[in-house]
Amino acid sequence: MSINSQLKIAIDGPAGSGKSTVAREVARRLNVVYLDTGAMYRAIALKLLRESCDLSEPGRVEAQLEQTTVQILADERILLDGEDVTDEIRSAAVNAVVSRVAELPAVRRKMVRQQQEIAAVSEGIVMEGRDIASTVMPDAPFKFYLDAALPVRARRRYLEQRDKGLPLSYEKTVHQINERDRIDSGRADSPLRITPGTAVIDTTTLTIEEVVEQILQGINLQAD
Ligand code: DC
Repeated sequence: MSINSQLKIAIDGPAGSGKSTVAREVARRLNVVYLDTGAMYRAIALKLLRESCDLSEPGRVEAQLEQTTVQILADERILLDGEDVTDEIRSAAVNAVVSRVAELPAVRRKMVRQQQEIAAVSEGIVMEGRDIASTVMPDAPFKFYLDAALPVRARRRYLEQRDKGLPLSYEKTVHQINERDRIDSGRADSPLRITPGTAVIDTTTLTIEEVVEQILQGINLQAD
């Protein structure tokens, strides 16, 4: 058994906490799979948007889910029913509805099952999201929760969006992140929370490299 077979690393945290960048870099250094579970919820949100599906009708949502496949490729491209939607899942339209979609129990069931299947066949994985430590990989030996002050998270998100050519004012970004936090933390089904045994890292004043180092030290492995 290689050492990587025990390398299940869960990274949770709110929007703008830096978890995607950090998780991707930790996975790269350890040479294990990186899985952005938020991208999967985004793909489902895109499908339900395209189909104009009424989110308050569980039967309709389930019917859509039965006909929907989401695949994440090794290069992080994401396929919805075979179509590459890597860019489209980051659109303003998807941003606006994804928290609502991620609240739906049927959506969560399908996504959690698929994420657990991916973890089961991976020799090592860094999985990031909101419910990884609590629900998807409760048995992961390494669990981290990244957080940062709201203005810092909003600024990071604002710069990210601006660089992608999707400018939203800083004030609107604060509002959007606040709203996203409220829904992600307040939902009944596997809300964003800190589970026992999870190391909390406040990234407010840390660089990406410092956070990556803290995680690597936390799992006590030397990476190049
Ligand atoms: O990390 P992100 O912004 O791409 O996530 C998109 C949405 O999906 C966000 O509202 C939180 C939700 N999500 C979730 O509920 N559970 C996860 N494991 C990952 C994301």
